[in-house]
Amino acid sequence: ERILMVEQILSEFLLSKEDLEEVMRRMRREMERGLRVETHNEASVKMLPTYVRSTPEGSEVGDFLALDLGGTNFRVMLVKVGEDEERGWKVETKHHMYSIPEDTMTGTAEMLFDYIAGCISDFLDKHNLKHKKLPLGFTFSFPVRHEDLDKGILLNWTKGFKASGAEGNNVVGLLRDAIKRRGDFEMDVVAMVNDTVATMISCYYEDHSCEVGMIVGTGCNACYMEEMHKVELVEGEEGRMCVNTEWGAFGDNGELEDFRLEYDRVIDETSLNPGHQLYEKLIGGKYMGELVRLVLLKLVNENLLFNGEASDLLKTRGAFETRFVSQIESDTGDRKQIYNILSTLGILPSELDCDVVRLVCESVSTRAAHMCGAGLAGVINLMRERRCQEQLKITVGVDGSVYKLHPHFKERFHKLVWEINPHCEITFIQSEEGSGRGAALISAVACKMATCML
Ligand code: BG6
Ligand code: GLC
Repeated sequence: ERILMVEQILSEFLLSKEDLEEVMRRMRREMERGLRVETHNEASVKMLPTYVRSTPEGSEVGDFLALDLGGTNFRVMLVKVGEDEERGWKVETKHHMYSIPEDTMTGTAEMLFDYIAGCISDFLDKHNLKHKKLPLGFTFSFPVRHEDLDKGILLNWTKGFKASGAEGNNVVGLLRDAIKRRGDFEMDVVAMVNDTVATMISCYYEDHSCEVGMIVGTGCNACYMEEMHKVELVEGEEGRMCVNTEWGAFGDNGELEDFRLEYDRVIDETSLNPGHQLYEKLIGGKYMGELVRLVLLKLVNENLLFNGEASDLLKTRGAFETRFVSQIESDTGDRKQIYNILSTLGILPSELDCDVVRLVCESVSTRAAHMCGAGLAGVINLMRERRCQEQLKITVGVDGSVYKLHPHFKERFHKLVWEINPHCEITFIQSEEGSGRGAALISAVACKMATCML
């Protein structure tokens, strides 16, 4: 009987096929509005041109430095782009991970970029590269309005970053200034790309049908190759350009109000960016654990869980980490993992409690997978229509901790996408070291074009 009442409360997380098709249609509508000059400013989905174009004419070979800022880890990488007889290229990478202290994420832009420059300096020391002026590709995973491949202003921070003095400024300029302030090495910043774009490009070199990139990690976003004549914000009609949808902001104009639950509202109100990134807040790893915690508290209050008593830790914001969701759903049936996690939170659960907690995790992560799938279906639908193809064959390159590490997210997500896109042949590939390789390959192409133009 208890389970029935729990299921009743969790049923709010279930989305019917009709609901999801509606989300897909609304996403598509916002995408079209974002692309068009007259509606761009008011659209929630910004559809930002990236200046990464189709059909690159070969690339430079050599050493590139790549930075990756905006996911769980900040990374500095050395990428060797070389020629390969079979595939035409090969890459090798060395990388180092640095954690960014929270006060640096939320301090000033100068502090943040000085910290980044410090990490680069450390990396160059480690690999004996201080004397070289390497070309650098910067994967910067936030909404950027580009003026060119190596120039763009940060529109707004997302995902818990909040360094002041960065929004509205040229991000590459902030990086160059910080490198200058240090003065102990030189770099040639040739490209800045979103993580979705780097992911797509890194997969494109393995599979030329890869024209969509998607991240389901701390945040959630996608990019795809759009016909130039539809990218109204950039002049030119020929070929295609990659568009960073920034679909995480979908819903910011009220498009998701009939789907958002009381827990989603709490997540939003207590976040660093209330009213923004409402779609991302239903899906991203930054929020998933906290969503589960809020539902658990609700069940405790209804006297349906833990004898109606929550531990102090369970009452603490952020205490239920997103990786716990993955671990709980990986439980093989003996409830050991679930029991262990709950005991670290100061709870001694009964068997039934463990089952209820698992149901909560499944509800939250399944809704995330389905919401995300509906969004991707919207993108693919749009592409199919653009290309006037009955059957669109397309590959999607994917990265991010939720997609890669959650035990069931992928399957649920794929199933939904295939189900609501019956006219498409969609393949998913996981990118490995996508940001490093992607940023380096785009830089290599940029360097080649720069040399050609000389
Ligand atoms: C990484 C990519 O592996 O995945 C990053 O290299 C990307 O560029 C990240 O931002 C996203 O996942 P998460 O889970 O780290 O936010
Ligand atoms: C956030 C960022 C976006 C990024 C995504 C995944 O949505 O705004 O730029 O691609 O997170 O990291």
